[in-house]
Amino acid sequence: MRDALEQIKNTAIEKLEACGDLKALDELKVKYLGKKGELTAILKQMGKLSPEERPVIGQLANEVRAKIEEEVSRRIAQLKEKQLAAQLAAEKIDVTMPGKKFDIGKKHPLTIVMDEIKEIFLGMGFDVVSGPEVELDYYNFEALNLPKDHPARDTQDTFYITENTLLRTQTSPVQIRTMEKRKPPIRIISPGRVYRSDALDATHSPVFHQIEGLVVDKGVTMSDLKGTLEMFIKGLYGEDSKIRFRPHHFPFTEPSAEIDVMCFNCHGEGCRLCKGEGWIEVLGAGMVHPKVLLNCGIDPEEYSGFAFGVGLERVVMRRFGIDDIRMFFENDMRFLEQF
Ligand code: PHE
Repeated sequence: MRDALEQIKNTAIEKLEACGDLKALDELKVKYLGKKGELTAILKQMGKLSPEERPVIGQLANEVRAKIEEEVSRRIAQLKEKQLAAQLAAEKIDVTMPGKKFDIGKKHPLTIVMDEIKEIFLGMGFDVVSGPEVELDYYNFEALNLPKDHPARDTQDTFYITENTLLRTQTSPVQIRTMEKRKPPIRIISPGRVYRSDALDATHSPVFHQIEGLVVDKGVTMSDLKGTLEMFIKGLYGEDSKIRFRPHHFPFTEPSAEIDVMCFNCHGEGCRLCKGEGWIEVLGAGMVHPKVLLNCGIDPEEYSGFAFGVGLERVVMRRFGIDDIRMFFENDMRFLEQF
């Protein structure tokens, strides 16, 4: 029995030493020390021993058990340490390696300037409202004092969807929709896309953006229009910029004007940027026509108003020196990344 115990101890130690992973180690522990293990099996035969031998073998058995237990714990600790070291090595980060590059999104140049324009008008107490791009003939033309046979309809090459629905050619229909819904005082701008069946070239696009403005209240005059537009242009182009009004005609305003900004490049001298004019046209405006007010149930004897429409693309092209309108819509990253 003494030999058997020695044998168990030696093979156990040998196997524990050779064992490479924790699960197998656990199995070895059960194999030698468990209730059905080899050591227990030997101890069950203790009864056959003489009373003198029993304590001696008993003590030896305890020593063998203690030794195996000690070996098991030592190996477990050793393997755990090895495992941790391997894990740490695998998870090691080399902080000197170059990082991953993330592309950061940027605002579209049209959005940059549009946001600026909104900010300027919000500061003057305007609301920002929107209207549908698929519009009724009534709102795009009829209610704006452009009846079916009006010659000015031909100047806006309209995309018709049906006889009475179309892609809006201007943001002016939002004037009507706003006046139908709100009572004066009204002070809104309405930015958005408009459509005209123009051939696409460097300066024309079948889709572009306008910002409509509308103010209706008691006692609104042309000088309010001038003051508001001057504030707007100074906010956009700087305190020293100058504007001029030229007489014009729009069916929905009376009187009407086109407004030019003094070329910021040559200060009125005339240069390539303003095509030698010294001034650049930026918007159309005027006093809301009494018929338009009436169409919206607003009494022109009691109220008056002004309206204006700004073409966004031209403003942005001049701001950033972009010479081809198609750039805005091609989504070429090399272009968009520059802003
Ligand atoms: N809707 C006009 C256009 O597209 C611009 C405009 C708006 C003129 C409001 C006067 C008042 O040309």
